[in-house]
Amino acid sequence: MKVLRTVGELRKAMEGHREAGQTIGLVPTMGALHAGHISLMKRARDENDIVVASVFVNPTQFNNPQDLQTYPRTEKEDCAALTEAGVDYAFIPSVEEIYPEPDNRVFDLGPVAEVMEGAMRPGHFNGVAQIVSKLFGYVNPTRAYFGEKDFQQIAVIRRMAEIEGFGFDIVACPIVREPDGLALSSRNVRLTPEQRAVAPAIHRVLAESLEKAGSMTVAEVKKWVVEKIDSYPFMTTEYYEIVNPLTMQPADEWMTPDGPAVGCVTVYCGDVRLIDNITYSKK
Ligand code: PAJ
Repeated sequence: MKVLRTVGELRKAMEGHREAGQTIGLVPTMGALHAGHISLMKRARDENDIVVASVFVNPTQFNNPQDLQTYPRTEKEDCAALTEAGVDYAFIPSVEEIYPEPDNRVFDLGPVAEVMEGAMRPGHFNGVAQIVSKLFGYVNPTRAYFGEKDFQQIAVIRRMAEIEGFGFDIVACPIVREPDGLALSSRNVRLTPEQRAVAPAIHRVLAESLEKAGSMTVAEVKKWVVEKIDSYPFMTTEYYEIVNPLTMQPADEWMTPDGPAVGCVTVYCGDVRLIDNITYSKK
């Protein structure tokens, strides 16, 4: 695996592969890689001639300076994991390389970016659009891969791609979980052992709510989920929204015109912010 640190090197390498008629899969990450990230690398490996992973803790998407500062940085381990997953290029730039001058672009992301994470983390999705649009421009991949763990992020990236005219495939990949159901996240390492023991309740409650959906309304299930999660020690639900899977707008029915509704949750477990979601489709 080659490590590239400059935009110039990355552009040049990608041009060569495109000229040779090869397909390119891009997997953007912020590092501290775990099996969830690696599942995206493997999918990209299966579907493309060349796989590029980016590892960049993007400052413009952090609305909390403390969160940016404490975000885990594990470059050596990340490179080992990417090599093992068969990635061809790791793009690991400095902040100055990506933002030689401030990025003042404001994207018209519309309603998909206004609710849930967009409402709770002002500027977050604009920062995601800034970095992902830069990466899309440098690499011009055949396909780009994102995890459904950040369900709303995928909708926002699709919207950014639409307005910026990126025509390639954006591939959504399923959530990878610990055996006890906790969605893998770079933030899980910050949980104390006591918090870690309780955190799987998030997925357990969401999974139980699938059965409730047979006999309860959307509004009733929303209330039930929040009360149930909040009954555990350390846990405080920030929001639980049941939404249309494409527009991210609140759903009134379990089946929306765009497919089964999706329940998206954010929970503080102590001071660690965890997100998860579940699709209300019949098993
Ligand atoms: P990061 O949180 O590092 O996640 C990188 C990619 O891995 C995202 O597409 C995310 O959805 C996916 N991912 C994380 N945990 C996962 C899990 N348990 N199962 C499946 N996929 C998982 O998301 C970002 O970085 C950034 O916002 C980024 C898109 C890189 C822009 O900076």
